[in-house]
Amino acid sequence: MDRIRIKGGVALNGTIPISGAKNAALPLMAASLLTGEALTLSNLPHLVDISTMVQLLAELGVEVSMNGMTGGGHTGRVLTLTAGEPETATAPYDLVRKMRASVLVMGPLLARWGEARVSLPGGCAIGTRPIDLHLDAFKALGAEIELEEGYVYAKAPKGLKGAKILFPFVSVGATENAMMAACLADGETIIANAAREPEITDLANCLVAMGAEIDGIGTGTLAIRGKKALHAAHHTVIADRIETGTYAVAAAITGGDVTLANTQFELFGAVGDILLKTGATVEKTDAGVRIRRDTGPVKGADVMTEPYPGFPTDMQAQIMALLAVSNGASMITETIFENRFMHVPELCRMGADINVHGASAIVRGVKKLSGAQTMATDLRASVSLVLAGLAAKGDTIVNRVYHLDRGYERVEEKLAACGARVERLQD
Ligand code: UD1
Repeated sequence: MDRIRIKGGVALNGTIPISGAKNAALPLMAASLLTGEALTLSNLPHLVDISTMVQLLAELGVEVSMNGMTGGGHTGRVLTLTAGEPETATAPYDLVRKMRASVLVMGPLLARWGEARVSLPGGCAIGTRPIDLHLDAFKALGAEIELEEGYVYAKAPKGLKGAKILFPFVSVGATENAMMAACLADGETIIANAAREPEITDLANCLVAMGAEIDGIGTGTLAIRGKKALHAAHHTVIADRIETGTYAVAAAITGGDVTLANTQFELFGAVGDILLKTGATVEKTDAGVRIRRDTGPVKGADVMTEPYPGFPTDMQAQIMALLAVSNGASMITETIFENRFMHVPELCRMGADINVHGASAIVRGVKKLSGAQTMATDLRASVSLVLAGLAAKGDTIVNRVYHLDRGYERVEEKLAACGARVERLQD
């Protein structure tokens, strides 16, 4: 199993190109099931999760053609997805187990073919993560839901009917599934308390390009007038705001000066505000965003994760690594997932002083972290250890790199290009 070794202590300087957003790409790929015509997506990141989604769509009978591998794999992938006739409406256990986002094929399958069988995603390292909100939305649209042998079987033989869906709390995946399903339902659907993440806006814009009629894009209330069919479209995936934020922390934690290219300042949102509080400078540039920290120590800051436009849970572990080397105390409160502090013991093994009390972690900054052997159980936790390693004295090894590969394209190359001493060790 691959590992990453980091020799800490180098301030990063240079430019890092940001890839397309994984969390936008996955629902966009699932949206290809909504039409028999070709959906071409560009700026897709080169990631294991994208390959898993390609595998799942191919299994469902989608014809996949790939190009855009030019530039030595440094440009985004372009995929053309054509969902003619289905081979099966079943998303099997083996693929759903690998990637929870597989559940996003359910809405499109149900809406277009009147049925979908998707293996129940199992427990996940960052909490139980049920799919009840997805299923409630399908029920509101007239589907019948059964559970059989570990699979959720949804059917609507006469098609879905527009309805009012009020989510009791914000869910990114359930909003995406409901929005996609509603595009082919008969009549109007209102989704209230919808998630407003930029990835949802990206999906909505693509659906509109495919012929869908959606009002309220970017707000908490979406109104969708169903169509009989959608059509071909070409869509470019937005930049990955979590990757952007992660490398911004890399610049800040090492006291470096890094330009993040192919991304947008506007995607930074609450992450930029917190970085400013910690003493970093964040600037909009023509190429993207420049981030640097050249004077003084990292300052403590309190952080609470919230649905967009609040501080993203997917940046919680990374900001914790930064606050671990601040000159003050910080409180980090996780409100989205109930079990998302697994990086804490690993950061503590590197010398961090962090105590978890329920949903909050008190981070008392230390002067220096020291390199250690570490292991993480999820994607963002893994990258937080890489970030800590960049600032630590000595060598840090991050084991189980496959978690990183699910969400970060060529992480070691991107960091090394800015001077970091980081390499992948292959066994
Ligand atoms: C998406 C992101 C993930 C991010 C998360 C929150 C993708 C592929 N993944 O995940 O990286 O961390 O948003 O920003 O885009 N919940 C239920 N029932 C449901 C659905 C969700 O109880 O039916 C709960 C979850 O357990 C969690 C909370 O709602 O506690 C938010 O989850 P949700 O927004 O749905 O996250 P995902 O779409 O799975």
